[in-house]
Amino acid sequence: MAKIVVTGGLGYIGSHTVVELVNAGYDPIIIDDLSNSQAGILDQLTKIIGFKPTFYQFDLCDEKKLKEFTEKESDIEGIIHFAAFKAVGESVQKPLKYYHNNLLSLTNLLSAYSGKDISFVFSSSCTVYGQPDVLPVDENAPVKPAQSPYGNTKQIAEEILKDAIASGDAKKVIALRYFNPVGAHETALIGELPIGVPQNLVPFITQTAIGKRNKITVFGDDYNTKDGSCVRDYIHVVDLAKAHVAALKLMESNYFAGYDVFNLGTGNGNTVLEIIIAFENATGVKLNYEIGPRRSGDVEQVWGDVTKSAKELNWKAELGIDTMMASAWAWEQYLSKNPL
Ligand SMILES: NC(=O)c1ccc[n+]([C@@H]2O[C@H](COP(=O)([O-])OP(=O)(O)OC[C@H]3O[C@@H](n4cnc5c(N)ncnc54)[C@H](O)[C@@H]3O)[C@@H](O)[C@H]2O)c1
Repeated sequence: MAKIVVTGGLGYIGSHTVVELVNAGYDPIIIDDLSNSQAGILDQLTKIIGFKPTFYQFDLCDEKKLKEFTEKESDIEGIIHFAAFKAVGESVQKPLKYYHNNLLSLTNLLSAYSGKDISFVFSSSCTVYGQPDVLPVDENAPVKPAQSPYGNTKQIAEEILKDAIASGDAKKVIALRYFNPVGAHETALIGELPIGVPQNLVPFITQTAIGKRNKITVFGDDYNTKDGSCVRDYIHVVDLAKAHVAALKLMESNYFAGYDVFNLGTGNGNTVLEIIIAFENATGVKLNYEIGPRRSGDVEQVWGDVTKSAKELNWKAELGIDTMMASAWAWEQYLSKNPL
């Protein structure tokens, strides 16, 4: 079984990807420092996949620990690099924390496996497009000046990866630009586990529905969209996880070399208000929400052109908004009875 290192493998997207890697016959090896996840996720993964996945707990910024790891795990075939800090607002308050963690973890990993014939998948983001001039936005759209240090780390990371390909430090790299991952695994044993106040809409919705939060604030209803609230391309996290397997498969094929980038979304946009209604319809739970002022840094609308992913990755999102909402709600209910 091909060994695939999954950095940040106990996090939201990483944990779902571990499951899909096992389903596809790979042997995932998790690295996580638990800076934004819980050790209990390892037990949850064990319940889903039927065995305890290999797990190393250390910070990828620690070169010495990474060296010990590479000496032990020298026969790996791929790396999926999720590990990063992701809170946009915090990155504005603490930019150096973000540049340090998100960039040093990447350069350390590339250096540790420099020159080896390893497939490398990187978690990028649609934030690189800012507010696109044309919608849906495709991979050839110009990258816009980053709106936050977090967004900037994704742009710089893509540049670092291209340079590493040009120099031969890396051989095969795919950067995946995620739109808005939501939802949870069908078993409701893993899902998004925000530490503190959620930054994203759907965990805020589920926490309000369960009574942890009083109400949801919709940031602005005067945008130039169908109901005035912002539009995003919401994608089920399990669909997203499967795309990582598709990226590995593409890199295993003989004709792939160098660097490429793919959008991962559904190709459809939904407004914030539509998501609130979709949640109510899918779960039968009424939500308390109010309209507030716009939030600085929010783009008005973005959704992805996923033609290239369908054609070249041979992947497309299959799960709809109802499943996204119902699974997120099942996970929140599970968590309220079984805190991790
Ligand atoms: N969730 C989103 O909305 C979204 C959207 C676009 C891109 N992304 C990117 O996808 C990746 C995964 O996101 P997520 O939502 O699963 O985040 P997450 O915070 O749930 O998972 C990241 C994991 O990485 C670990 N980690 C962070 N820094 C580390 C380090 N230096 N060494 C070892 N482990 C470290 C954390 O403990 C956490 O478990 C991130 O790179 C994020 O920027 C996420």
